[in-house]
Amino acid sequence: MPRHLGVIMDGNGRWAQARGKPRTEGHKAGVEALGRLIELSARQGIEFVTVYSFSSENWRRPKEEVSFLFNLLRRYVAAELERFVKNGIRVKVLGEREGLDKTICGLLDQVESRTASGTRMQLNLAFNYGAKFELASAMRKIARQVASGELAPDAITADMVGENLYTRDIPDPDLILRTGGEKRLSNFLLWQAAYSEFIFIDQCWPDFDEDTFRDVLLEFGQRQRRYGALENR
Ligand code: FPP
Repeated sequence: MPRHLGVIMDGNGRWAQARGKPRTEGHKAGVEALGRLIELSARQGIEFVTVYSFSSENWRRPKEEVSFLFNLLRRYVAAELERFVKNGIRVKVLGEREGLDKTICGLLDQVESRTASGTRMQLNLAFNYGAKFELASAMRKIARQVASGELAPDAITADMVGENLYTRDIPDPDLILRTGGEKRLSNFLLWQAAYSEFIFIDQCWPDFDEDTFRDVLLEFGQRQRRYGALENR
């Protein structure tokens, strides 16, 4: 069983278009699929689930779709807050707050603080997230310590980089699942995915269900993770 599962929820637009619906209907159905993922993961005892819900590159989409996704987040967080609290789901938002609307930031702070004592599972919403930006910010922070003479360049370690990422308190993902048929990481958790297993499936995100989840976990269970070492014999 993965301890930390990352999910790239792709294919909402195509799911909707295949049904003659506007892309936004795909995102709405995507929210329902996200609810199924959270419930199934909590039931399986997965400790951390990280979902890619808005990338820093998604700003390039038409303005209407961007504002739809923002409103969807707003409504989603407001509607689910009490359920998260009741079910012991601790929510963290990974991503850049700078440049986000004040009301969204307030809501994100609120969901983080209201759910902070949840112990059943942690849900990380990667929102306005981009791994290259995250790494560049970490480098800036470390560079400042070097510039002030606090840190010698040769003393910089990989752990120090990790400690300056949004995920500093979270173990690296064991498994990254991407739906929707594309086989790439799209700037999601680049550093953290060093030893992750990857599963790519053709199914579009809104169709994600219990059967998909079972198949994905079965496949993960068959992978041998060696972390650069040799397998145990
Ligand atoms: C990718 O599908 C999905 C997104 C860019 C947004 C993901 C959002 C959700 C699953 C809804 C949950 C979100 C919130 C805010 C709680 P796509 O639009 O790239 O699909 P396509 O590749 O078929 O065009």
